[in-house]
Amino acid sequence: MALQGKGFVDEMRMVAMKLHTREQAREGEKEVKGPEERSISKWNPTVDGYLRFLVESKSVYDALEGIVDKPDFPYYAELRNTGLERSERLGKDLEWFKGQGYGIPGPSGPGVNYACYIQELSEKDFPAFLCHFYNFYFAHTAGGRIIGKKVAGKILNNKDLEFYKWDGELKQMLQNLRDKINKITLGWTMEEKNHCLEETERSFKYSGDILRLILS
Ligand code: HEM
Repeated sequence: MALQGKGFVDEMRMVAMKLHTREQAREGEKEVKGPEERSISKWNPTVDGYLRFLVESKSVYDALEGIVDKPDFPYYAELRNTGLERSERLGKDLEWFKGQGYGIPGPSGPGVNYACYIQELSEKDFPAFLCHFYNFYFAHTAGGRIIGKKVAGKILNNKDLEFYKWDGELKQMLQNLRDKINKITLGWTMEEKNHCLEETERSFKYSGDILRLILS
């Protein structure tokens, strides 16, 4: 249930943290089911799997960034140019892998499914869309960065991918986005807030399907 009085992002975060496992984050409460829910130090990633993860992640960022670029999209100006955009950087990383002799798989898996779902929400359900927008960008700057570091150490000779670099102060960019989301949601009804929070579980499900590719 949505609480009144706090910035809404605090509530979004609280719901998200509970959906982690204890192995993923200290605040996690979920029981481990899939291999991607175990501690990353126990992962056995493969380069092919990681490449698939990057390709599918790019499909989702392409969708998110294409949607907020449209001037008829609600609050597009607020959600655009946050500095957190990842599509272009992922494109550079895929070029780097190509230069190293790896074949880049086409996007055809869980990222494409997720992108379609997000596209659909963007046209008819802004509160649910915002849940996915928040979770996808914030997950990448929290657990995502831990994954990047550990996986690079295990299989990429510690290569620093562009995916894990930002222009400017990341902390400030995250805070700016939190402030914008708090502002956007200020006038939401309790129903809209609860609807947005209830979507978090689906966001974890879709992201989990993409994460699992790293271990395939
Ligand atoms: C925050 C780990 C997957 C969404 C965090 C934090 C950790 C973490 C350690 C706490 C950061 C902090 O407050 O200092 C992980 C790991 C994951 C994972 C290891 C998988 C291997 C996910 C997924 C989602 C997600 C699948 C949702 C799609 C979030 C969000 C936050 C968070 C929204 C809050 C970020 C913030 O407040 O700045 N995660 N996470 N995480 N995670 Fe995850």
